[in-house]
Amino acid sequence: MSERGGIFAGDDPFALARQWLAEAETSEPNDANAIALATVDSNGLPDVRMVLLKEIEPAAFVFYTNYGSAKAHELDGAGKAAFVLHWKSLRRQIRVRGAVSREDGLLADEYYASRSLKSRLGAWASRQSQPLESRAALMAEVAKVTARLGPNPPRPPFWGGYRIIPSQIEFWADGAFRLHDRFVWRREGTDKDWKIERLNP
Ligand SMILES: Cc1cc2nc3c(=O)[nH]c(=O)nc-3n(C[C@H](O)[C@H](O)[C@H](O)COP(=O)(O)O)c2cc1C
Repeated sequence: MSERGGIFAGDDPFALARQWLAEAETSEPNDANAIALATVDSNGLPDVRMVLLKEIEPAAFVFYTNYGSAKAHELDGAGKAAFVLHWKSLRRQIRVRGAVSREDGLLADEYYASRSLKSRLGAWASRQSQPLESRAALMAEVAKVTARLGPNPPRPPFWGGYRIIPSQIEFWADGAFRLHDRFVWRREGTDKDWKIERLNP
């Protein structure tokens, strides 16, 4: 086995992330694609919340949200984000840092259309991260958009994806006596080659 063999082998970090996620999908009780997404606000104060990773593209990670949400303001403001995927069942994590841009084209339309009707209408009804008077007020809003938009609502203009284009990806696996294995992949630009380094645990 080479120095970076076994579960860490390969020369494409996106393929490796896809492979680890596929493995986690068979061992996690639910939401193996849940990521803790970290952003910073305009004061530099970090913020973090879970979202679902929906796509691992050849060179980016994609998730979906409301463009009026707190996270969207932070993502648009800083243009950068980080996230971690952690699987208790595998005792592994993947950490990602990079630049963000919106995915509000065909891919977002496609993903929106693939969701259940109730979720599609829910996206219309929720002004995510804004104060809400009551649960009843939200349900009234759902009823209103259901009546207005019918069974084929278009993707709301205020809802879509973000693409994280990493400059750094770390693959981490639990080792005996806290002697974990860590490999960090870094690159200066998307046209540059990855430099891979083993790190101390
Ligand atoms: C497992 C899990 C998955 C979630 N997935 C999403 C998601 O894909 N998109 C989203 O907007 N919120 C998702 N949420 C809700 C967010 O954690 C968060 O409450 C919401 O997006 C508002 O965050 P913000 O106020 O920082 O913008 C998820 C929550 C959990 C616990």
